[in-house]
Amino acid sequence: MHVANESTLGHTVLWAPDRESTNQTATALARDGSPHGIVVTARQQSGGKGRQGRIWTSPSGGMWFSVLVREPCALSQAADLTLLASVAVHRALVSEGVQAQIKWPNDILVHGKKVCGILAQMRTDGETVEYAVIGIGINANFSAELFPPEMREYATTILDTLGRPVFRPRVLGHIINELSTIYRALEQGVGGFRTVREEWKANAHTLGRKIQVRMGNTVIHGVAEDVDDNGVLILCDDSGEKHHIHSGEVLFSAA
Ligand code: BTN
Repeated sequence: MHVANESTLGHTVLWAPDRESTNQTATALARDGSPHGIVVTARQQSGGKGRQGRIWTSPSGGMWFSVLVREPCALSQAADLTLLASVAVHRALVSEGVQAQIKWPNDILVHGKKVCGILAQMRTDGETVEYAVIGIGINANFSAELFPPEMREYATTILDTLGRPVFRPRVLGHIINELSTIYRALEQGVGGFRTVREEWKANAHTLGRKIQVRMGNTVIHGVAEDVDDNGVLILCDDSGEKHHIHSGEVLFSAA
């Protein structure tokens, strides 16, 4: 039997019908000294946060939650931290029958459309990550018709994909268990961690494709060749020059 203690992720799950943003609540709790492993969830979010300052549409029926991880890794491994969260979600969704793939850095796609986004917000002390709030949003049990029309071109939901809802408590439990396993490997820096990175690559939608990456006002076109040991994307542009992309947004993927 596995007994949850305060080092186990998900030892406490705080649910509320409405929150502005579970990342915001989890960050406030982290500042107030809440323990490692706490999970904050909500039925719906009025101000869900996406990457690059975007709003994340978060209606009832979705899965909106944030996990507080204290001192998970060195700052140099911060990109890995979020990359590996996508592996945990990928495992759980595949076990539900969803044909999920991972898009760099940490989106989950089904048939090329986004079904989950991950937003990690961290506090660092210069060398290590003091704490990280890993926010995960899964478009689960609602129809994509709730999205604005322009969003339906690139976003989908599990309900629309499978034609049936999933049992969200089971999916949440599965993701938290996978996250626990992966972060333990990250903490210990063991070989198992390398295996998880390989798993990310094996399920990556991005690698080997011709893509465009936007970084601020710059867009680079090229082929996504690899992801290095620190989660950095290696892009070979049309002139053969290699770029190391630490953060950016993949705008377009063609077969
Ligand atoms: C992205 O832009 O792809 C990241 C989206 C992350 C959304 C989740 S929903 C739960 C958590 N709370 C937030 O406000 N954002 C994240």
